[in-house]
Amino acid sequence: MTNSQHLLLVGLPGAGKSTVAQLLGEALGMPVIDTDQVVEQIAGRSIAEVFSDSGEASFREFETQALRQSLAGTPAVISLGGGVLTQQINREILLGNRVVYLQVTPENAARRLGISHGRPLLQGSRDMVTKLQELHNQRHADYETAACLRVFTDGATAVEVTQDILDQL
Ligand code: S3P
Repeated sequence: MTNSQHLLLVGLPGAGKSTVAQLLGEALGMPVIDTDQVVEQIAGRSIAEVFSDSGEASFREFETQALRQSLAGTPAVISLGGGVLTQQINREILLGNRVVYLQVTPENAARRLGISHGRPLLQGSRDMVTKLQELHNQRHADYETAACLRVFTDGATAVEVTQDILDQL
């Protein structure tokens, strides 16, 4: 596989995107970018603050800016926020890019995230598995459509998932 192109990771919160992105970056000698962190830099606030001060729509605008900024840089492994494909503009921006879908069951995602996950969209959900199942139902088709490769992460370590991706790209 070639390092001259970005490698982007999509999937639900708790799919392991950030950890796997780090490992892929190390293996491929590529920089690693997390669009959630880029949003925080651009906004000058935490994601939780953007959601609570300005709402989700404003967060999504920052996210699109973060996506454009990340794609404009040198080839990198880019971990994308789980909701990035809910926006048509982002689906268009990502067309033609090398996207990998890390698929996780809502049960495992909830287990990985634990209680103090800090995700505004999941905050206050009495049943996190049900909320994640809802997000999965809303987003799965878009993740699949955008991706050139899908990797199942249930029961696999981040190292195994990384190797799986390296083997298949
Ligand atoms: C979101 C996922 C989060 C973050 C924000 C919204 C979502 O990123 O972008 O809280 O809509 O699913 P992770 O997928 O990295 O948790």
